[in-house]
Amino acid sequence: MDPLEMGQKFSLRQELDRDANLQFLPAPDVRKVEKRPILQRKLCIVFGLVAAAVSLSLLTGILVWRFHLHQDMAKPRVYVGSMSIANQRFLSDYEDPDSKPFVKMASLVSQQLRVMYDTNTVLTKYFQRSSVEAFSDGGSDSLTAYYRSEFSIPEPQQDSVDVAVQSLQMAAGSQKSRQGRVLLKPQHSLNVDAVVTKAIDPRMTSSSLLVKKSFNVHVREGGVIQSPGFPDSSYPSNVYLQWRLRADAAHRVRLDFQKLILEDDCQHDFVKIYDSLAPIEQTAIAEHCGIPQHLLSFVSSGNVMLLTLVTNKEKNFPGFIANFSQVPLEPPADCGGTLSGDVGQFSSPYFPSSYPPRTSCVWNIQVSKGKSVKVKFSKFYVGNDSIDCSRDYVEVNGRRLCGSKEGSTTVASRSNLMSVKFNSDWSYVHQGFFAAFEAFIPSDSCPGSFRCSNGWCVDSRLHCDGVDDCGDASDEEECSACAPNVFRCKNARCVSRTTLCDGKDDCSDGSDEFKCEKSGDVTTCSDSSFRCKNGHCLDKVNPECDGEVDCEDASDEEACQCGLQPYRSSRIVGGEASQEGEWPWQVSLQLVGQGHACGASLLSGRWLLTAAHCVQDKGSARHSQADQWEAVLGQHILSQPNEWTVRRKVSRIVAHRHFDQFTFDNDVALMQLDSDVPLNQHIWPICLPSPTHRFPAGQEAWITGWGASRERGVAGSVMQKAKVGIISSSVCNIAMNNEVTDGMMCAGVLKGGVDACQGDSGGPLSVISPNGRVFLAGVVSWGDGCARRNKPGIYTRVSRYRKWIEEHSGI
Ligand code: ARG
Repeated sequence: MDPLEMGQKFSLRQELDRDANLQFLPAPDVRKVEKRPILQRKLCIVFGLVAAAVSLSLLTGILVWRFHLHQDMAKPRVYVGSMSIANQRFLSDYEDPDSKPFVKMASLVSQQLRVMYDTNTVLTKYFQRSSVEAFSDGGSDSLTAYYRSEFSIPEPQQDSVDVAVQSLQMAAGSQKSRQGRVLLKPQHSLNVDAVVTKAIDPRMTSSSLLVKKSFNVHVREGGVIQSPGFPDSSYPSNVYLQWRLRADAAHRVRLDFQKLILEDDCQHDFVKIYDSLAPIEQTAIAEHCGIPQHLLSFVSSGNVMLLTLVTNKEKNFPGFIANFSQVPLEPPADCGGTLSGDVGQFSSPYFPSSYPPRTSCVWNIQVSKGKSVKVKFSKFYVGNDSIDCSRDYVEVNGRRLCGSKEGSTTVASRSNLMSVKFNSDWSYVHQGFFAAFEAFIPSDSCPGSFRCSNGWCVDSRLHCDGVDDCGDASDEEECSACAPNVFRCKNARCVSRTTLCDGKDDCSDGSDEFKCEKSGDVTTCSDSSFRCKNGHCLDKVNPECDGEVDCEDASDEEACQCGLQPYRSSRIVGGEASQEGEWPWQVSLQLVGQGHACGASLLSGRWLLTAAHCVQDKGSARHSQADQWEAVLGQHILSQPNEWTVRRKVSRIVAHRHFDQFTFDNDVALMQLDSDVPLNQHIWPICLPSPTHRFPAGQEAWITGWGASRERGVAGSVMQKAKVGIISSSVCNIAMNNEVTDGMMCAGVLKGGVDACQGDSGGPLSVISPNGRVFLAGVVSWGDGCARRNKPGIYTRVSRYRKWIEEHSGI
């Protein structure tokens, strides 16, 4: 493609000479000055002065007359619109405004417009001219034409013309093409379905705009658009530039800004993006100036998008650079559907890109019977805040939410079903939302506190204190202490022991039916069986967070807000660059003033797990001190913080007391952050395996980090990932001279070439379970060199330390 077309290299002068579409304001003629005899010149000057004085007073007179007596002097007003034509199809020739088919169709459309304006007494009076600017595929065998119509309207009549234009829109929609058929020759008739016309943004027709230029870009192959001169020089003054972006049929245009640096005042310089090929106000989806603080990324509703840049005279800045591409039109996977399982995540379409306009998605969430659903929106930027949320909104069980919400918003249902609808209207889009849902047992919906009958949660110390704290007095009901041979329910009720396990919910919180053995479900406990919180054991291998409730108390599916990879697609030695956001629990541990030193894994908003050997004092280096460390989360390229990056100070380090410096036994440490990190799709905890979680030999696992990419190499910049296999400890001990203890596990590729290395320590060995949830199998600990043949990597076996982790962090 011609680089000029893309605005890649743009010398304004050069463009002016080349472009036939340019429109200039009339500039004064340059007169030739010749030398004449002095007397003649003096006479000329006198004459000139007199003439100038006369014409000046004449001009002043005319101006006064015009403005004071003739206030209704006509002014130009430009409307832009689109017309949907049902009996015409889009031809590829229509992408070229110079092609014969374009010119022919354009003239038909102009005639059609003329006919339409002529049917209206107001419009016909002031109409000047129309020009067709572009065509696009209107879908289902129709053609969309984009046009501008100029009117010359006396000031007081402007409003009535606006109204007339508006009414035209409706007329075309309801009467279809009647006007067209009546007045155009039958063979030229256009079956007009809908017309949308609106006065153009006045900043786009300002008389100071010297240059108007359009670029036509097909986005199929992807590429880059940048403002003229970017980034070496500022964009030119007084220009209106527009890029008409088209995708293939059944595709959408996607535009991702890498940088945008414009003047701060949007009245002066701005970019404006439309879900259309003409700057029709109803289809404006974004306007930006200054330096936006967040990601600017847009997706169209159809296969076209218009990007415009308008600048004024003063203060020019570097401009912008943006990537374009096309994505399939088909409803994206993240737009609606049925969500089952007791935990999960979903987001608005294309999140974290802005959602497209004119989109609607419905998710139906269904969790296990007997539980309720809780949806937590950790990001919520949906339209503008309004009372009725009539434009862009999220509707949860019939209640609408809109606007931007800082922090997180949680909505709960009373049943195991919840429906979430997302809707965007024609104009102005936002980033959307990211949500996680979770099933909860209604009686557990007040963790740590007393649940009133009306659903309120009150401090459990207020229960039976003689004061109605619930408002329905339920905290003061049944307050007698239970007699010794009577069973005390979880909700403090007392029921007869004879009612235990009789299949009836006598406590009305189910607690008298919890610890009952059901045939088949419960086995006697062995060392390898999973133990539910109620002390019962399961036969099933790795039942935790597998999406099925196996324990009667559902404790196997509790605390499962972990281990999901929103960006999963398909340094480390022998690895490859990971995708941004693919390993949202990977943390870079940095020594203050020195940078990256170790990896770690996020376990919750507050806790990290790393290797004890990372936090040992070394000579004068006090690595065991919390204040020496900073944790960086949400990072992809080590040296480049992005909008997801979060830094936290470390407030506490708990290294395993029995870490052995010589054998590296018990190489595990916890780090507490000074404040919670926000959880989102770039920062998300990994699941901890239960003490009996099995990671059989041969199972696939992933190592990730910014460590060296070869033995004695330096730390990498893009987070690397590599696939390794779990190796049985008996095989491993043969290779590693019996140095592998029960607290360690081996993983690697025995033929060599793939391994963790210096700088990866403390980071995760992640195992993706069959249902997609990721468990922390190991912590990068040690090795014999890196990636040597028959020398696998050695990891701290996390399941062995599950209890230790709980004891020291409460997780
Ligand atoms: N101890 C190293 C560190 O501090 C990590 C060693 C891992 N080595 C290996 N070959 N797997 O970063």
